[in-house]
Amino acid sequence: YENELTYHTHQQNGTEAEFHEAYEAAVDSVRADLGATHPLRIDGEAVETGDSFGVQSPGDFDLEIGEFAAGEAEEVEAAVDAASAAQPDWEAMEPEERTEFFTDAADLLRERKYEFAAALSLENGKNRTEAMADVDEAIDFLDFYSREFERTDGYRFDTGEPTPGQHTRNILRPYGVFGVIAPFNFPVAITMGMTAGALITGNTVVLKPASATPLVAHMYVDLLEDAGIPDGVINLVTGGGSDVGNPLVEHEDVAGVAFTGSRAVGLGIQETFSELGKRGPVIAELGGKNPVIVTDEADLDDAVEGVMKGAFSFSGQKCSATSRVYVDESLIDEFTDRLVAETEELTIGEPTAEDTFVSPLIDDSALEHYLEIAEKAREDGEVLTGGAEVEDDALPEGRYVEPTVVADIPHEHELATEEHFVPFLTVHPISDLEEGIEKSNDSEYGLCAGIFSEDESEVEQWFDEIESGMCYANRSQSATTGALVQAQPFGGWKFSGTTGKFAGGYWYLQQFMREQTQTRVE
Ligand code: SER
Repeated sequence: YENELTYHTHQQNGTEAEFHEAYEAAVDSVRADLGATHPLRIDGEAVETGDSFGVQSPGDFDLEIGEFAAGEAEEVEAAVDAASAAQPDWEAMEPEERTEFFTDAADLLRERKYEFAAALSLENGKNRTEAMADVDEAIDFLDFYSREFERTDGYRFDTGEPTPGQHTRNILRPYGVFGVIAPFNFPVAITMGMTAGALITGNTVVLKPASATPLVAHMYVDLLEDAGIPDGVINLVTGGGSDVGNPLVEHEDVAGVAFTGSRAVGLGIQETFSELGKRGPVIAELGGKNPVIVTDEADLDDAVEGVMKGAFSFSGQKCSATSRVYVDESLIDEFTDRLVAETEELTIGEPTAEDTFVSPLIDDSALEHYLEIAEKAREDGEVLTGGAEVEDDALPEGRYVEPTVVADIPHEHELATEEHFVPFLTVHPISDLEEGIEKSNDSEYGLCAGIFSEDESEVEQWFDEIESGMCYANRSQSATTGALVQAQPFGGWKFSGTTGKFAGGYWYLQQFMREQTQTRVE
């Protein structure tokens, strides 16, 4: 297969001035429409429930994003029934017939991208650049998965005539109905990626978005409906994890689950599948505790910039965020001084403001967790910068916190071993590359890792020995975050994932299918 790269959508956003102008206009129009009531979407119909929940912007509590129907087991049942009924016709389509809905949806998303980015900033707090990156990644997922499915003729291969008269083909077929449980942090890209993976391959879907980000999930379903997707193929049930997520996972007609989120929840889904004797796949992307090594051969400018951006973009609320850095002891003082100085220059602000870099935290439990670990860091180590809520009367009421750099924490300390999902970075000295690799690998996670070294042999050794799905050397744009669809398929080893296959990669779609060999005697 000719490895022709996607023309990544992020390269098509016009000049900076055009980008800012279009984004700001979209923020005004999206804001004007906020506050509506949103039902569930089952079998192409709006479904009201007796209960609902409100969502406020994490950057401005006065901004009501909307009121969303709270589903329960009964609605999950109806959604799964609709998905089951729609599945056979959906599967029966030829590959190009199905992918057309997604390439059309990608075209529509290109037209609506500013609207999506604006809604995303308001709903989950991403700054404008990162919000647009999330939307661009979604477009790339829709296009790439469609192209892959067409390229492989929907994974159908004639295997010939093994003995005279026996004609055989080997094909992949969908499992049936998938539950898709999506995260708040990439509610456009990851939601669309997982859902498109299940749908393009001929499964139908019941989607449960994160409770913090149901608005963009509605916008996604609008997109697919506007692209003409048949009723029942995608069903949206908003609500809580125990009210919607659990019954969805447990439902006997839900053959597989695609999930992105915490390790605890992901492994819990696997356990439920095994307890219930379910045989379908749990395709889960879980957390990370992503290490970066800075050797004595590093370019310090690149290292400081890469680590800071990796740790604090979207306030560390990424499974790919840099969260521990191992620095050669000969330059740790200089590195840390510069990192702290540059971190203190980062702009913490309203998500939609042009110069904002650090975003607010998503919910109260994230804020509480941040304050707790900051306290623990003060007790057990040294907080070099950050560790508190931002006090700035010019900001609206929201969950604004300072990016935090901590030293003197033992490598085995929970602050340095557990995923925290807030802007929190620990810095550790190492005496050489070997110690850095050993400590990097001493983790239950293996999602992303980085190294800064100008010595090619160090980089090669690190590539050979690091236990990590995503490995980035000398990447100043961000040490560990920001993978591109197709070019940098994204996933993890160890407890960072369940299947070892990567999103945006060549083996992703196959996970949603099972194999069948068909022999016909003529
Ligand atoms: N794909 C994202 C990144 O690379 C994380 O989900 O940062």
